[in-house]
Amino acid sequence: MDPHALRAAYEEERRLREAAERYSEALAAKALQVARVEAVLRQQIAVAREHAALHVKARRAAEEAAAAATRSAAELDAVLAAIPAGIAVFDSELRILRANVAAREVVGIPDPGRDTTASERIQALGLLGADGRPLPREDCPVVRALRGETVAAETYARTPATPGGRPRWVTMSAAPVVEPSGGGSDVVAAVFDVTREHELLEMREDLLRMVSHDLRTPLQAVLTHAHLIRRAADVPPAVAERAEAIVRTSERMGRMLQDLSEMVLLESGHLTLSRVPLDVPAFLREVLERLSAPLPPDRIRLRAAGDAPPVLADPARLERVVVNLLSNALKYSPAGAPVEVSVVAASGDAVEIEVADQGVGIPQEILPRIFDRFYRVSDGRRQPEGLGLGLYIARLLVDAHGGRIAVDSAPGRGSRFVVRLPAAAPAP
Ligand SMILES: Nc1ncnc2c1ncn2[C@@H]1O[C@H](COP(=O)(O)OP(=O)(O)OP(=O)(O)O)[C@@H](O)[C@H]1O
Ligand SMILES: [Mg+2]
Repeated sequence: MDPHALRAAYEEERRLREAAERYSEALAAKALQVARVEAVLRQQIAVAREHAALHVKARRAAEEAAAAATRSAAELDAVLAAIPAGIAVFDSELRILRANVAAREVVGIPDPGRDTTASERIQALGLLGADGRPLPREDCPVVRALRGETVAAETYARTPATPGGRPRWVTMSAAPVVEPSGGGSDVVAAVFDVTREHELLEMREDLLRMVSHDLRTPLQAVLTHAHLIRRAADVPPAVAERAEAIVRTSERMGRMLQDLSEMVLLESGHLTLSRVPLDVPAFLREVLERLSAPLPPDRIRLRAAGDAPPVLADPARLERVVVNLLSNALKYSPAGAPVEVSVVAASGDAVEIEVADQGVGIPQEILPRIFDRFYRVSDGRRQPEGLGLGLYIARLLVDAHGGRIAVDSAPGRGSRFVVRLPAAAPAP
């Protein structure tokens, strides 16, 4: 073979091999690139799939949230429509944003329209103060709620009056609407019409006042005549005995009427105390001296500490408290069992009057209720007569003096009532 031709063939072969190598390298690089692109694409497809799934989930969640919100709003509408209270939401300018049926139709909260001033809108609510004049703007529950206050069930007279000309009454609560961010400038108010309840209360008060007050005059006449018959010289003993029974019964009835009228005064807030400085031991000695049957003074012992400071009290009212406690102590203990009244100077500038008996005692579970109005124990025992007012009145009177009344008792062991009164401040 021609050496030239051989070299040329070699050269050709080397060139071809190198070209093939370059080509295969380029091919490998391309393949690598394609693989990379494919990996990236795969990744992107996965991400896109994930995004799509998330998107579907998010959309479903949003749809569910919207449905829940719609359901809540419908529930709220149903609640607002169903409750008898008038509910209204006011904005910071006291415009009504929302009001339920009761607010518009039962309570009659007027919507004075948007082109009125805030003052006019308050006036439209028609609330009156204790003096019967329109409630000042700053006292209006809605305005106070705008300032951040929560107003709980306050009762107001309201104009316009009822068709019969009687005042209308409402109980109003109001509170600021607090947003999750902590801010908020709306106010929600709840209003009940309590005109009927108010009228019933007034009727009850009038009736009690009449019963307790107007019945006392004829009763006094019965008592006077019975006294006269009992004391007359020429009366047969049987008649005198009956007259005595009439006296006792009338006196008992008089005490009941007095309790009723005291209750009316206390509950209507019309009781005014005439307080004077009282030396409690001396005061109690006088009270005990005045006692007569059916409160036998010989069963009562008085023990008084000499160091008890004076108290500032209404003597007639404090006597009522003591007599009510004594009457119970005697009534609910066996005939002849002693009753002890003691006075002690308590710590913290107070005086304590204790009335202790050795009577039937009071079961633990009803102790908290014995100071309630008309409460009487009904455990099957035969109970002495009473209205169930004595302790209720005693509690209200002691409260009115800024004091406290407490009891410690157990069945069969007797009872101990303690009246704690603040000592009078020493004269400057
Ligand atoms: N010292 C006491 N011992 C036992 N039970 C008592 C005593 N004091 C009160 N109670 C019980 O508490 C109840 C309420 O007493 P409260 O004085 O208010 O009414 P009352 O004595 O029944 O009637 P009223 O005092 O109106 O004539 C009584 O019915 C009685 O069951
Ligand atoms: Mg009593």
